[in-house]
Amino acid sequence: MTFDTLIAGPAAAPLAGEITPPGDKSMSHRAIMLASLADGVSEIHGFLPGEDNLSTAQIFADMGVRTEWLNSEKTSLRVHGVGLHGLHAPRNALDAGNAGTCARLMTGVLAGQSFTSTLTGDASLRSRPMQRVSEPVQRMGAIVEGREGDNFLPLTIHGGQLHGIDYQSPVASAQVKSCVLLAGLFAAGDTTVSEPHPSRDHTERMLPIFGQPVEIGEDDIIRLHPENRLTAPQTPLHIPADPSSAAFFAVAASLVPGSELCFHNIGINPRRGGWRHILDDMQANIQLLNEHRIGNEPVADIAVVTAQLHGMQVNAANVPDAIDEFPVLFVAAALAEGVFVLQGAEELRVKESDRISAMATALNACGAHIKERPDGIRIEGCTELRGNVEIDAHGDHRIAMAMAVAAQRANGDIRIRNASAIATSFPDFVPMAQKIGMNVRWATV
Ligand code: S3P
Repeated sequence: MTFDTLIAGPAAAPLAGEITPPGDKSMSHRAIMLASLADGVSEIHGFLPGEDNLSTAQIFADMGVRTEWLNSEKTSLRVHGVGLHGLHAPRNALDAGNAGTCARLMTGVLAGQSFTSTLTGDASLRSRPMQRVSEPVQRMGAIVEGREGDNFLPLTIHGGQLHGIDYQSPVASAQVKSCVLLAGLFAAGDTTVSEPHPSRDHTERMLPIFGQPVEIGEDDIIRLHPENRLTAPQTPLHIPADPSSAAFFAVAASLVPGSELCFHNIGINPRRGGWRHILDDMQANIQLLNEHRIGNEPVADIAVVTAQLHGMQVNAANVPDAIDEFPVLFVAAALAEGVFVLQGAEELRVKESDRISAMATALNACGAHIKERPDGIRIEGCTELRGNVEIDAHGDHRIAMAMAVAAQRANGDIRIRNASAIATSFPDFVPMAQKIGMNVRWATV
C-alpha cells in the first residue's frame, strides 16, 4: 500500500518519551560517497535508509560499487570502495530521485571521471537549479550539458582531467561547496572554496577520516590539496542522529502543553544548530546534555520542555545554519506570542518545494496570520490553529512533517496531501511521532 495522505490532529495529552531519531541525511550521503571512492572496505553505522540516501547508494552500485547491508533495517553497511579512479561508466542514466544533495555532490564526482554519464531525478529535482554546480565544474575542465544553460537535470557530464580553481560561491550552500571539493579530489593542483556565509561542513570534517586533509584558512576559505587517493578508515564510521529530524519533535514538544521529550545522540555541529538558537531566542526550553564527539562531529542528548514561544527577527547571516528547519520554525512562530520576521532566505524558494509559499499557504488555510515576502516571511502569532482543513505538502517531506506538528495545536484534524516524500528523509516519522504521543496517522483510503 502506498501512503500519500497524512491525517494529523490535536494532541490528546502532553508529549513524552525518549527517542533516537534516524541517522543524519547529509552525513549518510557523504559517507557512502567517500567510502565508494576510497581504497579498501569501509564500515558505516547509523546510516539513514531514507529514499534519498538509497538513491546515492544505487548510483554507486550502478557504477560498480558493492555494498553489503549488515542489518535488515539498512542502517549498517560495508562499502567495498573502488578507489578514486575505479568507477565504471554506467549503462543508464543515474537517478538521484528527490535528492538535491545527491545530484549536486555527484556532479562534482562525475566531473572527475574519464567517462560520460547522465544524471537525472524526479520532477521536483528536475526543476531545481543546477547551474550553481555545473558552472564551477565546467571551470575546472568538465563539459556539462543540460536544459536552459545547463541549469536543469538531466545533466550529461563529460568528465575529464580537471584542474583546481579558487571558487567564490555566490550562494551559501554546502551542496555547491561540497561539489567543488569533491571535484577537487580529481583535479591537478589545489582547489579553494569560499562562500558568503559558512554552510554545513560535514564534507570538510569527513574527508580527513578518509585520509584527505582539508585546510580552513583565514576568512573561512577552504583549501584542498588533493592526495590523489582516499583510504577506507580503519575503524567503523558512526553517523549521529539527524538534528533536522529532531527539530520537528522539539517544536512539537515546545507547543503541546506539559510535554517533556529527550532525544539521544543528536548531531550538534554548529552549522546545523541554527534551529536550536532560534528556538532559544524564542524562549523555548531546550537543554543539551551529555555532550561528546562521534568521529569528527559533536553530539549531545537534547531535552525539550514546553514553553510559551515569542516572535523574533532572523536575518540572512543566520539562515544557512537553520536552512532545513524553517518549515517547522514557521509553525513555532505561528503559535508564538508577537511577530516573527525572516529575511534573506530566498534559498527556501528553491528547496524540494517553494517552502515560503507552501508553508504560508498551508498555515493560512489553518487560520494563521502569515505574509510572504520575496526573501522571507512575516508571521503574527496566534493561540490555536483551525482544523478540519486539507492542505498540500507539494511532495516535500519537510512541509508534510511540519504540518503534522502544526496539527498538534489545531482544533480538528488536518489532512496533509502529497506527503509520501516523508520517506525520503524520515521513513519512520509516523511510528516515532506516535510513540511520543503525537496524533498522526496515514490515511488508508
Ligand atoms: C545539504 C545542504 C543544504 C540543505 C540540504 C542538505 C547538504 O542545501 O538544504 O537539505 O547535505 O549539503 P544547500 O547547500 O543547497 O543550502
